[in-house]
Amino acid sequence: MKTIITFGTFDVFHIGHLRILERARLLGEQLVVGVSSDSLNIKKKGRAPIYSQDDRMGIVSGLKCVDAVFLEESLEKKAQYIRRFSADILVMGDDWAGKFDGFASLCEVIYFPRTPSISTTSIIEVAKRYK
Ligand code: CTP
Repeated sequence: MKTIITFGTFDVFHIGHLRILERARLLGEQLVVGVSSDSLNIKKKGRAPIYSQDDRMGIVSGLKCVDAVFLEESLEKKAQYIRRFSADILVMGDDWAGKFDGFASLCEVIYFPRTPSISTTSIIEVAKRYK
């Protein structure tokens, strides 16, 4: 049985998020998703997510293609998470291409092309223009 692991914020959940999770799940039998904590996002992206970590975890864990979720509390703990879940494959979007190659000694690392023309940031920008 192959276990896939992936990480992300998954704020203001959109079709790009769904597509990468569905594609990741097709690589094996179990998909485990690390949803980054609110405080990690403030550090990483310089702003708090729109949806709370509990809501983001709730949305991701409700998907048919997702078998388990956990809270990613530190970027430095990725190796620990990979080992904890005995992941065979780490999947990330290609905005991260090359950045996770260091984990290749622990598991296979695969980057999928991002879904074009959509991101949480662009949705927030569009929403801001509505009065
Ligand atoms: N992702 C994707 N296609 C998109 C947007 C995101 O495949 N159009 C993937 C990312 O590559 C990542 C995962 O979804 O592996 C979670 O990405 P996340 O950073 O939560 O979403 P973004 O929409 O990129 O958020 P932001 O605009 O805040 O950077």
